[in-house]
Amino acid sequence: MHIRRLSHALGAEITGVDLRKPVDDQTFHDIHAAFLEHCVLLFRGQTLTREQHIAFGRKFGELQLTPPHRIAHMAPDHPELVLVTNKPNPSAVPLDARYQGEGWHSDRSFVASPAKASLLRGVILPPLGGDTLFSNGYMAYEQLSDGMKALLEGLHGVHVQEDNRTLDRSTPERYAASLRLTRAAHPIARTHPDSGRKALFLAFRIKKFDGMTVAESAPLLKYLLEHATRPQYVYRHVWQKDDLVVWDNRCTMHNAVNDYDHAHVRHMERVTVKGNESGYVFEGNLD
Ligand code: SIN
Repeated sequence: MHIRRLSHALGAEITGVDLRKPVDDQTFHDIHAAFLEHCVLLFRGQTLTREQHIAFGRKFGELQLTPPHRIAHMAPDHPELVLVTNKPNPSAVPLDARYQGEGWHSDRSFVASPAKASLLRGVILPPLGGDTLFSNGYMAYEQLSDGMKALLEGLHGVHVQEDNRTLDRSTPERYAASLRLTRAAHPIARTHPDSGRKALFLAFRIKKFDGMTVAESAPLLKYLLEHATRPQYVYRHVWQKDDLVVWDNRCTMHNAVNDYDHAHVRHMERVTVKGNESGYVFEGNLD
């Protein structure tokens, strides 16, 4: 197994591993160490079946099954696989651009236990464009001044994923249940459970800081998101078919660049690994 860094900020390509075959414990130990060090790993030329993709995901931990309101995005018969795609699907449920990865985010940040890792495979790619950007939340945090770090201490961002399908107001019980799937507050400077380092934990989905208004929160949120996505903290991945990219959601954000011609299909398949609880369900108002 060889490791080659992909950018100054983050990312490494792993060669010499065939993920179609079971990965032995020593090899996985080395892969996991590289995952913690480089935050994003690239494996090229992995012509995996869905079962092989899922099996490799399981090495990282328990998998997140597709939630009920995203059933239209589930791979048929594979609840462990989310389709991140602009390809019309047989259920004919219109695909929502928000579910095509656009905008800086970290997967499932709107629940109290966001994702640990995501494993995304390029299945069908447009001829041009459709790259994915990744940013390093450790670096962005560490470059802040001591004053700003002190200001962020204790601040929680309220992450919201809402659309007509996700918030069910039909009964108080259903409303409470749907809130648990769509609104959570997490520390802005979040400690990574494995490395013990702090990373900025941001997303376009943060509406405000808990305990402040949207208007009060907006200027600092805008500054932090711009800071965390400066080019020096970013790796841009130009996809090739059968690339498998694995990232650590606890110290990175990503953004699928929506710059390609949608007459072409961009079809990606993602396995998502559950993470630890790092926040709480947000039940306050969003004003
Ligand atoms: C995602 O947000 O999980 C997918 C990103 C992408 O399709 O590039």
